Amino acid sequence: MNATKPTHNAEKNPNVNTQLDLAWSTSCDVAFQHRVWWSDHVLAPGNAAFAAALAQVHGQCVAFIDSGVAQSWPEIALQLMGAFAALQPAHGDTTSHLQHGAVAATTPTVAPSLAHVGIIPGGETCKEGLKYAEHVAKICFDHGVNRHGAVIAIGGGAVLDAVGFGAAIAHRGVRMIRIPTTTLAQDDSAMGVKCGVNMFEQKNALGCFAAPWAVLCDEHFLSTLPIEHWLGGFSEVVKIALLKDPHLFEQLESHAMGITSRDLKIASPILRRSAWLHREHIVRGGDPFEVGSARPLDHGHWSAHRLEALSHFAVPHGQAVSIGIALDAFLAVEMHLLDASVATRIIQLLRSLQLPIWHPLLEAGEELFAGLEQFRQHLGGNFAIPLLTSIGASREVTRIKAEDFRKAVTTLRTLAS
Ligand SMILES: NC(=O)c1ccc[n+]([C@@H]2O[C@H](COP(=O)([O-])OP(=O)(O)OC[C@H]3O[C@@H](n4cnc5c(N)ncnc54)[C@H](O)[C@@H]3O)[C@@H](O)[C@H]2O)c1
Ligand SMILES: [Zn+2]
Repeated sequence: MNATKPTHNAEKNPNVNTQLDLAWSTSCDVAFQHRVWWSDHVLAPGNAAFAAALAQVHGQCVAFIDSGVAQSWPEIALQLMGAFAALQPAHGDTTSHLQHGAVAATTPTVAPSLAHVGIIPGGETCKEGLKYAEHVAKICFDHGVNRHGAVIAIGGGAVLDAVGFGAAIAHRGVRMIRIPTTTLAQDDSAMGVKCGVNMFEQKNALGCFAAPWAVLCDEHFLSTLPIEHWLGGFSEVVKIALLKDPHLFEQLESHAMGITSRDLKIASPILRRSAWLHREHIVRGGDPFEVGSARPLDHGHWSAHRLEALSHFAVPHGQAVSIGIALDAFLAVEMHLLDASVATRIIQLLRSLQLPIWHPLLEAGEELFAGLEQFRQHLGGNFAIPLLTSIGASREVTRIKAEDFRKAVTTLRTLAS
């Protein structure tokens, strides 16, 4: 019902009600539990984290595996079946109720059972439009998965996003268990509460907020990750360190060599710290579903998303974010927010992590700059981009001048050549 402002005429007319017709306004809290486990060999029979994640799951479940993971871990579907088989005794079963002729007065619990394991193309291919998300939803219907069952996704951030969207729209939301297998998915994306696909030539144009039922991180999966994607995930660590944790930034500086040589002993605490900080922002930052305008975690992302789309997703997200961070650092310098020496230090770190600071598409000037407006529309609300004021501190800016953008691009071009 529309609340209309009293007009001059209405004030004169005693028959017109100038009060709001009816207003029922009550706040309604919707709580969700955000659960993350770090566990080795998460699919080994009897793994405690896997059992805990599925403890409240009942009935049919389906799983989708990233094609890159399936290729590198050919036994994974069998392992998953074994993990489900090992769960059976722990769960109650309705059969005993039925045998005794009792009509279940309480909700029957049916042990979770794995009805389907499918392969989903890894990387941005699975986020091309609705095809794979719809496929996931269809499989849920084909196999009788309801809201008490679960969809399990094993893979990189792209597969988690596409499968997560399919799960979120099936029956208006089937529980989703994420098993992230890339550095980026473990240190950032799997901790989040978003999912979605690319559409209308725009990154994540369709999607929704949907908190995962559980996240199970197993760092063993990282051993088969192609080097480009191993490194790419550290751009999100640089981002969160720049925004929130100067000590983490220093750790990255001192351990860059260990990271680039894929020393998991060195990388693991860094990845987990990043995951913790991303998760803390979501569970304690006060705006998990991004109702307001502030988007601190999107530092470096307005140009990154645009670069990804302009390159037809040839530039992976992690590398695009690295370039976006470099660009935002020099934008902050142009806007007198950040000292140039700090921006230079950031560039040095990105380089020592073998992350890019430049792409020829930055020359696309206007087209790239248009990403700002796209980003604003995508996020909604007032335009607000977080730019750094020092390492560990940022400020929301509400306007970026094209001239400052051009100067920042020129500086990056010079540094990269
Ligand atoms: N929902 C969110 O909050 C959020 C946050 C950040 C990023 N993202 C999204 O995440 C995506 C990027 O994710 P990503 O960096 O994890 O890369 P990715 O999902 O694109 O995967 C990269 C490649 O690695 C392969 N792969 C994955 N795990 C593997 C393994 N263990 N061994 C061998 N190959 C493996 C995949 O098949 C793919 O080819 C982007 O679409 C980005 O938009 C989402
Ligand atoms: Zn990102």
